[in-house]
Amino acid sequence: MRRYHVTTFGCQMNAHDSERIKGMLEELGLGEAAAPEDADVVVFNTCTIREKPDTKLAAYLGDAGARKRAHPDTVIAVGGCYAEAQQERIFSLYPQVDVAFGPGTIAHLGEWLGAGGFGVARGTWGTGEERVFAATLPMHRERTFQAWVQISMGCNSVCSYCIVPAVRGREVSRRPGEVLAEIESLATAGVREVTLLGQNVNSYGRDLGTDFAQLLRAVDAVDGIERIRFTSPHPKDFRANVIEAMAECNAVCEHAHLPLQSGSTRVLKAMRRTYSRERYLALVDEMRAAIPDLALSTDLIVGFPGETEEDFCETLTAVEEVGFDSAFTFVYSPRAGTEAAARTDQVPDDVKRDRIERLVEVVQRVATERNATRVGNVEEVLVEGPSRTDPSFLRGRTRRNMAVNFTGDAPPGDLVNVRIERATSQTLGGVQLAVVRV
Ligand code: 5AD
Ligand code: SF4
Repeated sequence: MRRYHVTTFGCQMNAHDSERIKGMLEELGLGEAAAPEDADVVVFNTCTIREKPDTKLAAYLGDAGARKRAHPDTVIAVGGCYAEAQQERIFSLYPQVDVAFGPGTIAHLGEWLGAGGFGVARGTWGTGEERVFAATLPMHRERTFQAWVQISMGCNSVCSYCIVPAVRGREVSRRPGEVLAEIESLATAGVREVTLLGQNVNSYGRDLGTDFAQLLRAVDAVDGIERIRFTSPHPKDFRANVIEAMAECNAVCEHAHLPLQSGSTRVLKAMRRTYSRERYLALVDEMRAAIPDLALSTDLIVGFPGETEEDFCETLTAVEEVGFDSAFTFVYSPRAGTEAAARTDQVPDDVKRDRIERLVEVVQRVATERNATRVGNVEEVLVEGPSRTDPSFLRGRTRRNMAVNFTGDAPPGDLVNVRIERATSQTLGGVQLAVVRV
């Protein structure tokens, strides 16, 4: 049997696309290999949001190229955002690559790979007639009780640092009937938690005469779905009706990932985020008033062009003021073709490094303080399986999206009550009480 391996970089959207890529390769009769070295078809589903994933990909492609020299039948395919952004250059940069394709054209993977019995012509750029929702394709799901559901593709925002609108195109919403039909069939198959995915979920449906609040309510009504998550919303589009829907729908989890990016209104303006520090803080107040015990996570960038020490300190104070439960912190990385990359006032690397270290310190301190307040609580945890670091513990997540390691006895997919006894900046620890529902 021929075997494939898929390596995934980047966001949950990409992880979800990889499940479809795997599903399609399995439909073509391939089995999954444990490592790229053991595979006949090696796929890289790439990201280009920052420079680091680009560099990592180069190393992986070097290894795959070496294997191809020893086994010339190996097919190397590169998909995703880096491939889309570099489609003019990818085959000259990496002559070992046979097929490359962008995030919208996964649907055609079978044609390129299958048509010639995998004897694809070197340098095939996988075009498709139009961008297709990967959701309509076969799927290889890693977990039986959790699923990602794509609700839109593309992004209409113009954040000046971000390459995504250029690679993923204009926003298109998936029809609510299709989204719901997929979620109903997932629920029938035993899925209890869905994560709705889009580059900006809160602008969902405007092109179809509906909106995200209506979608949340409809998903909440699906029998068997006990937890609904979504990522990512843009603060500018977080309207009152979505907050109401979050507060009123039992299945919608008490967590929002709300990318702030910077605490300085001046920098936010240059980033073209279209909200101020004050507007963001007011939104947080509004959400917390409506949704008791809401957890908030965020994305933060340091070293945006022109960011002064004073601007940066405003990011630090915003983290304290909001009290984020967790945060992804990034060093600004100039992406060719974006507005911010063309600015002449780039921040020196040593200043960026100093700022990220100071930011991480504050983020961790605030998160540790917030987590410490959970000790003594009993929280509902969706069991994911044995802990990665110590298999004598189980691992799962609370509704507020905190990872919990705990002693207990329950199969993956169960909802159990855990008494929280310990907390660090990123995890909670505890002991299982009784099974809530099976
Ligand atoms: N440099 C650094 N971080 C970036 N992000 C997006 N573009 C860049 C960039 N050029 C971050 C943002 C976004 C997250 C997914 O990645 O914080 O929310
Ligand atoms: Fe996801 Fe953006 Fe990376 Fe593409 S570039 S994989 S959309 S994070």
